[in-house]
Amino acid sequence: MDRHAQTIRNMFSSVASRYDLLNHLLSLDLDRRWRRKAAAVAFNGRTPALVLDLCAGTGDMALALARQCDGAKIIALDFARPMLERARAKINEAGLADRLVAICGDALRLPFADHSFDLLTVAFGLRNVSPIEAALREAARVVRPGGQMVILEFALPPRGLWRRLYGFYFFHILPMIGRWISGTSAYAYLAESVALFPQPDGFRQLLAEHGFVNAQWRPLACGAVALHTASVACVSDRAPDQPAQVRRCGAPCCQGSVAR
Ligand SMILES: C[S@@+](CC[C@H](N)C(=O)[O-])C[C@H]1O[C@@H](n2cnc3c(N)ncnc32)[C@H](O)[C@@H]1O
Repeated sequence: MDRHAQTIRNMFSSVASRYDLLNHLLSLDLDRRWRRKAAAVAFNGRTPALVLDLCAGTGDMALALARQCDGAKIIALDFARPMLERARAKINEAGLADRLVAICGDALRLPFADHSFDLLTVAFGLRNVSPIEAALREAARVVRPGGQMVILEFALPPRGLWRRLYGFYFFHILPMIGRWISGTSAYAYLAESVALFPQPDGFRQLLAEHGFVNAQWRPLACGAVALHTASVACVSDRAPDQPAQVRRCGAPCCQGSVAR
């Protein structure tokens, strides 16, 4: 694990006991609604057999998924043990341990075979993983062709008064409250990392370059959060001149395609 990853892991480990409180406080409790929305979009009437929630932290995204879909088995993965301990306590308390497990692992080296998952989710986590391209390649590897990926990430609202007001809150007020309650500078990092992360259209482009198709996003909270959806490419999604890194998924879109 490189130094950046260790720094991130230590930072989240150090804020684990206050993480949920700060999340709900700093988002005016909207974070719960965003995750519920992401879970609803992720399922959209489907029942995936196996779901991976990456950078799961204290488990709120995985719990939102488990509450909305009885039939799915869910693995929540994170590399910060104190965050995972909180996730496990919440999973047990919710009585969901029979179909939701929290495991320790690195998003850049996932301990799963190719094409293991029907759905992969990441809520407010991808921004912390570097390099992001490697994380996307790894995500595309473990999701089956035709499977879905749903990502929630902060964004900077488009121009205008809301951008200025939000920018003032996000870059000045939020780090101050975060430092006061957590006793760390982790919340100054939050604002910096959002400013450095590709904005939604750029991120959509990145998805298209790393094995995903049908990448789309929609704004939440007037553009302060982006909800991205994409699928892992099937054989039939490849352009004719794309190299033969072919996978067959058995979905209708793949029928009759020959893997070469
Ligand atoms: C901002 S928290 C998001 C937690 C949760 N998904 C949520 O919605 O609140 C980001 C999480 O990503 C985890 N993380 C960052 N880089 C990671 C990596 N390379 N592998 C696994 N987890 C990682 C951190 O430990 C942290 O718990």
